Parts: sequence; structure tokens; C-alpha cells
Amino acid sequence: TAPALKTFFNGKFKVGFTADPAWINDAPSQAILIKHAGSITAENVMKAQTIGTSAGVYNYGPADQVVNFAQANNIAVRGHALVWHSSTPAWFFAGDRSDMTAFRAIVRQRLETYITDVVTHFKGKIYAWDVVNEPTSDDAGSTYRNSEWYQIFCDSYLDIAFRAARAADPDVELFINDYSTEDPGKRARYMTVIQTLLDRGVPIDGVGHQFHISTTYPSAAQVEQALIEVEAKGLINHVTELDISFYTDPGSCFANQTGCVTGLVAGSAAVTTTLRTQALQYRAMYNIFASRASVESVTTWGVADNHTWLSTFPVTRLNLPLLFDTAGNPKSAFWAVVDPA
Ligand code: XIL
Repeated sequence: TAPALKTFFNGKFKVGFTADPAWINDAPSQAILIKHAGSITAENVMKAQTIGTSAGVYNYGPADQVVNFAQANNIAVRGHALVWHSSTPAWFFAGDRSDMTAFRAIVRQRLETYITDVVTHFKGKIYAWDVVNEPTSDDAGSTYRNSEWYQIFCDSYLDIAFRAARAADPDVELFINDYSTEDPGKRARYMTVIQTLLDRGVPIDGVGHQFHISTTYPSAAQVEQALIEVEAKGLINHVTELDISFYTDPGSCFANQTGCVTGLVAGSAAVTTTLRTQALQYRAMYNIFASRASVESVTTWGVADNHTWLSTFPVTRLNLPLLFDTAGNPKSAFWAVVDPA
């Protein structure tokens, strides 16, 4: 029988999964969460797009369902995410920009109020918050993502966000979170973002690595390097969104590359081979995570293969990137993780 992951990795890190109300109420996913999860991240319902109805008006219902389920089953909750360029409702940025100083003051007030209220609402129920998600540029030419937040505030919006979160809850761990931290170029920019915050005395406890990776990239050594560089700054590591895609760089798929759009055919020999490679990749990654004391939480972005954002992002195609199959049974990847030899 399959060992409970949360027990298997006890003393190493919290074993996390994402869940929204629909997955909590889906029988196979619910059973997996109750048996294996030490941590739950809401996939979408704690984002501003869901919670921030309008200024001062909040939709906490779906997030509260996730938190209540977690508490009833003794599972910790990871908050995701207070500020994300991709999930900021338009009302945050509404207003007259002819006087930028005045406009900035208004938007700053909205941001501070939002963070204060949301962090306060979940105070004592959440062990870590992703305060700012994906602030780093993908281009070598700039350090920061050129988001609307950045365009209005330059990088000071990070300071505003982290300080407001700390003021609202002195005990919750505050995280920055980003993807492709295994890539040396992206990572160097991410480390600049982080060091700049530290230099300014901004309260930050830890660094999130999304690790949306593939069966063949990156190597365990590249991933370990990302963890080591964070340790060198005295910060905690969380693996926040791990999944191991059948396909390499999604960027190439935006161009509707042949083969990429079609994807692998269900039941084909190629799928069998890929699942085997995936299992080895999962084992290599968990070996690294378990070997580094700085890694305190490892979350896979989903529960089972019946629901994964990667089956539609960036194109619709077969993708089975998680530890449990579409029926909720442990996959080769699961067995590889609990048999790390
Ligand atoms: C994704 C969800 O999985 C999707 O359901 C949603 O449509 C878009 O967001 N990086 C993040 C996550 O930080 O919040 C994203 O989640 C995946 C990429």
C-alpha cells in the first residue's frame, strides 16, 4: 500500500497540493488530500481576481471553504497570492492619471487596504503568503517584469506589499515567488530583486520556486543551485508549484509549433516512455528537496492528472504531470518518490 506522503517526508518538508472547492469535493482528490497532504494552496480562489470584488468588498467564500476543509483535516494552508500582475482586478488601477503623484497615492491606498484586510481575514490560519508573485523579468535587459504595478510604482510596490503584509500579521511567513528559477539568467535577475528588498530592510522570510519543469529539463543540479543561492541569503525555500510536464519549454508552443500543439496520443508507447522518464525526474527532484534543510514546503500544482492547468496551457493537449493518475491512483512518479534509492 502507498505510504502517506506527509508521513514519509515528515521532518523534511510539508507535502503540499493545490485545491479549489471543486477538487476538495471530488472524491478521489479529496481522499488524496486527506491521506497525503500536509499543506494546501488554493489554485485560484485566494487570488485578487476572486477575493477582490471591488474596493473594500471581498469574496472570501470559496477561499474559506478551502481553509475550513484544511483545518478539519489538520492540513496547513499556504496563501497564494496577494499581488500578481495576472490576477489584479481593474478597479485597483482605475482613476485619472493626469496627476501621477495623486494617482499613485490612491492606488497605494487600495493595495495597502487590500493586503491588510485579506491577511487579517486569514490570520492564524495560513503559515505562509506569496506576497508578490512573478515580479521578475523574463528578458535579460531588465530586472523587473514590466507589469502595471511596475509601471505605476517602479519596484517600490514590492516594499509596499511586503510591509503591509508584515504589519497585518507579524507571524505569517512572507514569500516572493517566481518561475524558471532553475534558469541561470532568470535566477540572477530574481536574486537581484530579492537582494534589493533585503538591502532596503523589507520583511521577507522566504523564496518560492514554482518549478513548472519537464521530464527532461532541468537537471537536479540546476534545481539544487537555485536552492543553494537562496540559502546563501539566509532565507527559506518553498517549492510552490511543482509539476513535470510531458513537454519542454511552453514558450515554443505559443508559436503553434508542429507536434507541440497535437501532443502525445493517449495510450501510445510514447506516453509509456514519457511516464517512465517523468518518474525518474520526480525522484531526482525529491531527493534534492529532501537533502536540503532549507526546503520547508514542496507543493505539486494540482492533485491528480484529471485536473491540471497544463492540459490547456499553453495549448490543449494530453499532459499527465502529477503524482496521481486520472483515477487518483499513485503513478510510477509517486512510487519513485517514495523509493528514492
Ligand atoms: C494558474 C491556475 O492553475 C489556472 O487554473 C489559472 O487559470 C491561471 O493560474 N503560476 C502561478 C499560478 O503562480 O497561480 C498559476 O495558476 C500557474 C502559473
